[in-house]
Amino acid sequence: VPPRIRFDGRVAIVTGAGGGLGRAYALELARRGAKVVVNDLGGARDGSGDGAAAPADRVVAEIRAAGGEAVADHNSVATVEGGAAIVQTALEAFGTVDILINNAGILRDKSFVNMTPENWQAVLDVHLHGAYHVTRPAFAVMRDKGYGRILMTTSAAGLYGNFGQSNYAAAKMGLVGLMNTLKLEGEKRNIKVNTIAPLAASRLTEDILPPDLFAKMQPEYVVPLALFLCTDQCPASGNIYNAGMGFFNRVAVMTGPGAVPAAQGAVPTPEAVRDQAAAITDLEAGRTFGQLAEQVMDVVTKVQ
Ligand code: NAI
Repeated sequence: VPPRIRFDGRVAIVTGAGGGLGRAYALELARRGAKVVVNDLGGARDGSGDGAAAPADRVVAEIRAAGGEAVADHNSVATVEGGAAIVQTALEAFGTVDILINNAGILRDKSFVNMTPENWQAVLDVHLHGAYHVTRPAFAVMRDKGYGRILMTTSAAGLYGNFGQSNYAAAKMGLVGLMNTLKLEGEKRNIKVNTIAPLAASRLTEDILPPDLFAKMQPEYVVPLALFLCTDQCPASGNIYNAGMGFFNRVAVMTGPGAVPAAQGAVPTPEAVRDQAAAITDLEAGRTFGQLAEQVMDVVTKVQ
């Protein structure tokens, strides 16, 4: 029987861990031996408010009451200084950082023409820039120690689209791009970076999900995959997974086999593209690529 998954000796930062999914990750990491930085600035669902520190403190109290180790951190991921301070909290309290779960999030839904620059900026600042602000100083520590596990949190809204969430969808797909580069930059230092698209009942989804489904979607059903991706046994880097209601599957950017609608070396015409649009668009026999160079080689092979 393989040993139970444990995180003894590991230090984890979970952003936005005062409630919802982040709280569930933090509790289970601590239950399994990790020392956890519970980051949450407090505030309302749209990111407004006075930054009441209470949510992070409550989760830390829960962890300590269960015999675990945790410290609260109330910095915002939305600034460079906040991100640095969150990592500093881990270094001061526990001496290092091994695991980072970029989870903090807000929503400012509007149909696109009503999407003001303020609503656009606020959501990009927390989700995409927030992950940059925290991951960069954490990555420096992980690179130097030769170990790291990083999770990005994307969304089906970004992966597939959702009406009224242009800001959020753009930010969430931006995180996939960030992962794609970090998986390569971290490869030689045993830093693995993966992304999950959770589906869970929380205050971010309470008015989006039908009430009967909402009841069945506790964050606990997302936690097992997130934790597995944070172990030293994590099999992959650069993968995206859906996780919700105890169901997990992989999501990928697929590249179709394509077509070359011209004689070799000739410049194709728009008419030739039209006539072969079905073959150009087809994803049957599609595949995934591990990095840019693989896709370039695929094109070179196809046109030769
Ligand atoms: P939640 O609202 O319960 O948790 C988000 C937490 O982030 C809150 O506690 C909030 O105070 C904190 N936060 C917000 N701005 C912050 C900042 N600047 N700095 C630090 N903390 C900040 O929502 P939930 O659902 O647990 O969301 C967690 C993550 O999962 C988010 O990134 C969300 O976009 C993502 N997600 C959730 C889905 C779901 O079905 N619940 C679906 C897809 C993605």
